[in-house]
Amino acid sequence: MSRVLLKDVRPYGEGEPVDVLVDGEVIAEIGTELEVDADEIVHAGGAVLLPGFVDLHTHLREPGREDAETVETGSMAAALGGYTAVFAMANTDPVADNAVVVEHVWRRGREIGLVDVHPVGAVTVGLKGEKLAELGTMARSAAGVRVFSDDGHCVHDPLIMRRALEYTSSFGGVVAQHAEEPRLTVGAQAHEGANAARLGLAGWPAPAEEAIVARDCLLAGHTGGALHICHVSTAGTAEILRWWKSRDAAGRVSAEVTPHHLLLTDDRLDTYDPVNKVNPPLRTEADVLALRRALADGTVDCVATDHAPHAAQDKDCEWSAARPGMLGLQTALGVVVHTMVRTGLLDWRGVARVMSERPAEIAGLADQGRPVAAGEPANLVLVDPDAEWTVRAAELASLGQNSPFDGMRLPGRVVATLLRGRLTAHEGKVRR
Ligand code: DOR
Repeated sequence: MSRVLLKDVRPYGEGEPVDVLVDGEVIAEIGTELEVDADEIVHAGGAVLLPGFVDLHTHLREPGREDAETVETGSMAAALGGYTAVFAMANTDPVADNAVVVEHVWRRGREIGLVDVHPVGAVTVGLKGEKLAELGTMARSAAGVRVFSDDGHCVHDPLIMRRALEYTSSFGGVVAQHAEEPRLTVGAQAHEGANAARLGLAGWPAPAEEAIVARDCLLAGHTGGALHICHVSTAGTAEILRWWKSRDAAGRVSAEVTPHHLLLTDDRLDTYDPVNKVNPPLRTEADVLALRRALADGTVDCVATDHAPHAAQDKDCEWSAARPGMLGLQTALGVVVHTMVRTGLLDWRGVARVMSERPAEIAGLADQGRPVAAGEPANLVLVDPDAEWTVRAAELASLGQNSPFDGMRLPGRVVATLLRGRLTAHEGKVRR
């Protein structure tokens, strides 16, 4: 069992710096100027100490597209980004709609050991939206699946959605919906608005998301099931969630927003660079501002990256042929600091809430998103709040290099990440 001493840290960015002794897998002691033996001392210079981040929405691409990402490279990106748990989406090849595939992903995560990899199970067989997958078998498998999603596709049949909510509620699961009414987005390439019209790109209208969100809130209320809305992208969705959460029945609906929807708009379409293609699409300035407000006031519960690496040939092509998706794990903190902390919308406690505590609660993780306090599991991230860095997509750990933040300067740098007391990343390097 190793002991790590974190010297001069500020839990939640509050108060005078303290020392934190991590012994084995837990926080053993917090105090000033601790004089103790340790196997490793991290001199933090007043850096902010938070519970390790939890990402409810990561595409690790394994099995099937190991040219875009693997559990290993995605785990490296996660550790470097300050994450101690990620949820690996089911749209792999083969699809994670059965116990064999989810157990494979889970085992690979454990073998690599840089971040807890929780496989998401598909809601429907082959993500086809026609027949429920074996949700209970995946839940009872070694992977202990609790989050189910057809992400990339919407569970558009309302009866299947209803059954999924009912069934998962019997074992404490949650259905994470990619809200996109498919009949309204046939051929869609970009946000339906002035920019798409000017450039001749087929539009993805806001109501295609909002109609499904409203429908599924009603179904969650009716069934008592737990619903999580993936990648909220419109001001209208935030309004619907605000309305729904103001009702008594609210408790079992949660939602996430991505870093890219907190910062980027469809003004980026002008270059036709497919690095900006994502689903749901980048929207307007008014949507961005509404999403920031919704995250700040809890209407949207958390940040999730929708980290979606793609191989070069799937992005370096014409817009309509390119796959949607953006890297997110290593830039999420910087974008959140830029859009939410530097703007005064969130303090560091708020960052802990939206990047760690709420996602852990939504997914039912008992050992993540815990308070920074003695006796708690040492799943931690140390952040230099003042450091600024320039994103270099080619230098990120992911195999795909499709970062829309390439070349951008971002504030807030991950100094170290600890998973159950072990350093998994330190000073920009993965520790194995
Ligand atoms: O942009 C996206 N990319 N949105 C999705 O829903 C799926 C994801 C992917 O798998 O690439």
